[in-house]
Amino acid sequence: MRDYIDENTIGVVAILGSTFIGHFEDVALLKKKELDCLHAERPDLDIPIHVDAASGGFVAPFAFPRLKWDFALSRVVSINVSGHKYGLTYPGLGWIIFRDESILSKDLVFTVDYIGGPPPAFTLNFSRPSAMMVGQYYNFIRLSREGYRNVIHNCLANAKLLLGPSRKAASSCFAAISIFL
Ligand SMILES: Cc1ncc(COP(=O)(O)O)c(C=O)c1O
Repeated sequence: MRDYIDENTIGVVAILGSTFIGHFEDVALLKKKELDCLHAERPDLDIPIHVDAASGGFVAPFAFPRLKWDFALSRVVSINVSGHKYGLTYPGLGWIIFRDESILSKDLVFTVDYIGGPPPAFTLNFSRPSAMMVGQYYNFIRLSREGYRNVIHNCLANAKLLLGPSRKAASSCFAAISIFL
Protein backbone atom coordinates (compact mmCIF):
# COMPACT_ATOMS: atom_id res chain seq x y z
CA MET A 1 0.00 0.00 0.00
CA ARG A 2 2.60 2.55 1.10
CA ASP A 3 4.48 2.22 -2.17
CA TYR A 4 1.46 3.71 -3.89
CA ILE A 5 1.17 6.77 -1.65
CA ASP A 6 3.04 10.02 -1.99
CA GLU A 7 2.49 13.76 -1.47
CA ASN A 8 0.06 13.81 -4.42
CA THR A 9 -2.30 11.25 -2.84
CA ILE A 10 -5.59 12.87 -1.83
CA GLY A 11 -7.09 9.78 -0.22
CA VAL A 12 -7.36 6.01 -0.07
CA VAL A 13 -10.61 4.20 -0.84
CA ALA A 14 -11.63 1.14 1.16
CA ILE A 15 -14.45 -1.02 -0.17
CA LEU A 16 -17.08 -2.29 2.22
CA GLY A 17 -18.79 -4.92 0.11
CA SER A 18 -16.93 -5.76 -3.09
CA THR A 19 -19.01 -5.83 -6.26
CA PHE A 20 -18.41 -9.51 -6.94
CA ILE A 21 -18.57 -11.34 -3.61
CA GLY A 22 -19.47 -8.70 -1.02
CA HIS A 23 -16.10 -8.90 0.70
CA PHE A 24 -15.45 -6.22 3.35
CA GLU A 25 -12.02 -4.65 3.35
CA ASP A 26 -10.65 -4.11 6.86
CA VAL A 27 -10.93 -0.32 7.21
CA ALA A 28 -9.65 -0.26 10.81
CA LEU A 29 -6.57 -2.26 9.82
CA LEU A 30 -5.95 -0.04 6.81
CA LYS A 31 -6.10 2.99 9.08
CA LYS A 32 -3.93 1.65 11.87
CA LYS A 33 -1.34 -0.53 10.18
CA GLU A 34 -0.91 1.44 7.01
CA LEU A 35 -1.97 5.07 7.18
CA ASP A 36 -1.29 5.80 10.87
CA CYS A 37 2.15 4.16 10.62
CA LEU A 38 2.90 6.02 7.43
CA HIS A 39 1.91 9.30 9.11
CA ALA A 40 4.18 8.52 12.06
CA GLU A 41 7.10 8.00 9.68
CA ARG A 42 6.19 10.81 7.29
CA PRO A 43 4.21 13.55 9.12
CA ASP A 44 3.58 15.28 5.79
CA LEU A 45 1.50 12.28 4.63
CA ASP A 46 -1.74 12.43 6.62
CA ILE A 47 -4.00 10.50 4.25
CA PRO A 48 -7.78 10.38 4.70
CA ILE A 49 -10.01 7.40 3.86
CA HIS A 50 -13.15 7.30 1.75
CA VAL A 51 -15.28 4.19 2.34
CA ASP A 52 -17.16 2.88 -0.68
CA ALA A 53 -20.01 1.25 1.25
CA ALA A 54 -22.28 0.99 -1.81
CA SER A 55 -23.32 -2.51 -0.75
CA GLY A 56 -22.02 -2.82 2.81
CA GLY A 57 -23.39 0.43 4.22
CA PHE A 58 -26.78 -1.12 4.85
CA VAL A 59 -25.39 -4.54 5.80
CA ALA A 60 -22.57 -3.89 8.27
CA PRO A 61 -24.55 -1.90 10.87
CA PHE A 62 -27.10 -4.70 11.17
CA ALA A 63 -25.08 -7.86 10.51
CA PHE A 64 -21.86 -6.78 12.24
CA PRO A 65 -22.78 -3.95 14.62
CA ARG A 66 -19.41 -4.01 16.38
CA LEU A 67 -17.37 -3.67 13.19
CA LYS A 68 -15.52 -0.35 13.02
CA TRP A 69 -15.57 1.00 9.51
CA ASP A 70 -17.29 4.40 9.57
CA PHE A 71 -16.76 7.84 11.13
CA ALA A 72 -15.83 6.10 14.38
CA LEU A 73 -12.42 5.82 12.68
CA SER A 74 -10.80 9.23 12.64
CA ARG A 75 -9.33 8.91 9.15
CA VAL A 76 -12.68 8.18 7.51
CA VAL A 77 -13.85 11.47 6.02
CA SER A 78 -16.50 10.37 3.52
CA ILE A 79 -18.77 7.39 2.85
CA ASN A 80 -20.94 6.54 -0.14
CA VAL A 81 -23.91 4.18 0.09
CA SER A 82 -26.37 2.94 -2.53
CA GLY A 83 -29.92 3.29 -1.24
CA HIS A 84 -31.09 1.16 -4.15
CA LYS A 85 -29.18 -1.89 -2.94
CA TYR A 86 -29.70 -2.99 0.67
CA GLY A 87 -31.35 0.34 1.42
CA LEU A 88 -34.23 -1.43 -0.37
CA THR A 89 -35.40 1.36 -2.61
CA TYR A 90 -35.69 2.02 -6.34
CA PRO A 91 -32.74 2.50 -8.69
CA GLY A 92 -30.80 4.69 -8.66
CA LEU A 93 -30.57 6.33 -5.29
CA GLY A 94 -27.18 6.71 -3.72
CA TRP A 95 -25.52 9.30 -1.59
CA ILE A 96 -22.28 10.42 -0.11
CA ILE A 97 -21.89 11.78 3.39
CA PHE A 98 -18.95 13.80 4.66
CA ARG A 99 -17.51 13.90 8.16
CA ASP A 100 -17.99 17.66 8.15
CA GLU A 101 -18.50 20.55 5.77
CA SER A 102 -14.80 21.33 5.47
CA ILE A 103 -14.22 18.06 3.55
CA LEU A 104 -16.43 19.07 0.62
CA SER A 105 -14.60 21.49 -1.63
CA LYS A 106 -16.62 24.63 -2.23
CA ASP A 107 -15.72 24.32 -5.91
CA LEU A 108 -18.01 21.29 -6.15
CA VAL A 109 -21.07 23.11 -4.79
CA PHE A 110 -22.97 25.47 -7.06
CA THR A 111 -25.89 27.76 -6.49
CA VAL A 112 -28.31 28.98 -9.14
CA ASP A 113 -31.15 31.36 -8.62
CA TYR A 114 -33.97 28.92 -9.37
CA ILE A 115 -37.71 29.14 -8.71
CA GLY A 116 -37.56 31.50 -5.81
CA GLY A 117 -34.21 30.91 -4.22
CA PRO A 118 -30.60 29.90 -4.65
CA PRO A 119 -30.39 26.40 -3.13
CA PRO A 120 -26.82 25.14 -2.86
CA ALA A 121 -26.47 21.84 -4.74
CA PHE A 122 -23.77 19.21 -4.89
CA THR A 123 -24.83 17.06 -7.80
CA LEU A 124 -23.86 16.03 -11.29
CA ASN A 125 -27.23 16.53 -12.90
CA PHE A 126 -30.25 18.66 -12.25
CA SER A 127 -33.90 17.62 -12.66
CA ARG A 128 -34.46 14.10 -11.43
CA PRO A 129 -37.37 12.05 -10.13
CA SER A 130 -37.68 12.06 -6.37
CA ALA A 131 -39.68 8.82 -6.08
CA MET A 132 -36.71 6.90 -4.75
CA MET A 133 -36.08 9.48 -2.05
CA VAL A 134 -39.68 9.23 -0.94
CA GLY A 135 -39.36 5.43 -1.09
CA GLN A 136 -36.22 5.54 1.01
CA TYR A 137 -37.80 7.84 3.57
CA TYR A 138 -40.84 5.56 3.72
CA ASN A 139 -38.64 2.52 4.31
CA PHE A 140 -36.72 4.26 7.07
CA ILE A 141 -39.93 5.11 8.88
CA ARG A 142 -41.77 1.87 8.08
CA LEU A 143 -38.94 -0.55 8.82
CA SER A 144 -36.79 1.44 11.24
CA ARG A 145 -33.51 0.01 12.52
CA GLU A 146 -35.13 -3.21 13.68
CA GLY A 147 -36.82 -3.84 10.32
CA TYR A 148 -33.57 -3.39 8.43
CA ARG A 149 -31.83 -5.68 10.91
CA ASN A 150 -34.46 -8.39 10.30
CA VAL A 151 -34.19 -8.06 6.51
CA ILE A 152 -30.40 -8.32 6.54
CA HIS A 153 -30.40 -11.28 8.95
CA ASN A 154 -32.96 -12.97 6.73
CA CYS A 155 -30.79 -12.37 3.64
CA LEU A 156 -27.79 -13.89 5.42
CA ALA A 157 -29.84 -16.89 6.57
CA ASN A 158 -31.03 -17.46 2.99
CA ALA A 159 -27.50 -17.17 1.68
CA LYS A 160 -26.33 -19.79 4.20
CA LEU A 161 -29.20 -22.06 3.19
CA LEU A 162 -28.29 -21.80 -0.48
CA LEU A 163 -24.63 -22.31 0.28
CA GLY A 164 -25.18 -25.79 1.76
CA PRO A 165 -26.34 -27.52 -1.46
CA SER A 166 -23.97 -25.46 -3.61
CA ARG A 167 -21.02 -26.61 -1.51
CA LYS A 168 -22.10 -30.23 -2.03
CA ALA A 169 -22.41 -29.65 -5.76
CA ALA A 170 -19.19 -27.67 -5.91
CA SER A 171 -17.16 -30.50 -7.34
CA SER A 172 -19.55 -30.92 -10.25
CA CYS A 173 -21.20 -27.59 -11.11
CA PHE A 174 -20.62 -24.75 -8.62
CA ALA A 175 -17.87 -23.20 -6.61
CA ALA A 176 -18.78 -21.18 -3.49
CA ILE A 177 -16.45 -18.21 -3.42
CA SER A 178 -17.96 -16.06 -0.66
CA ILE A 179 -15.70 -15.90 2.35
CA PHE A 180 -18.38 -14.60 4.71
CA LEU A 181 -20.59 -17.57 5.29
C1 LIG B 1 -18.26 -1.35 -4.50
C2 LIG B 1 -19.22 -0.60 -5.36
N1 LIG B 1 -19.10 0.73 -5.47
C3 LIG B 1 -19.97 1.46 -6.23
C4 LIG B 1 -20.98 0.84 -6.92
C5 LIG B 1 -21.92 1.69 -7.74
O1 LIG B 1 -23.06 1.95 -7.01
P1 LIG B 1 -24.39 2.49 -7.72
O2 LIG B 1 -25.05 1.32 -8.34
O3 LIG B 1 -25.20 3.07 -6.60
O4 LIG B 1 -23.97 3.52 -8.72
C6 LIG B 1 -21.13 -0.54 -6.84
C7 LIG B 1 -22.20 -1.21 -7.61
O5 LIG B 1 -22.34 -2.39 -7.61
C8 LIG B 1 -20.25 -1.27 -6.03
O6 LIG B 1 -20.36 -2.60 -5.90
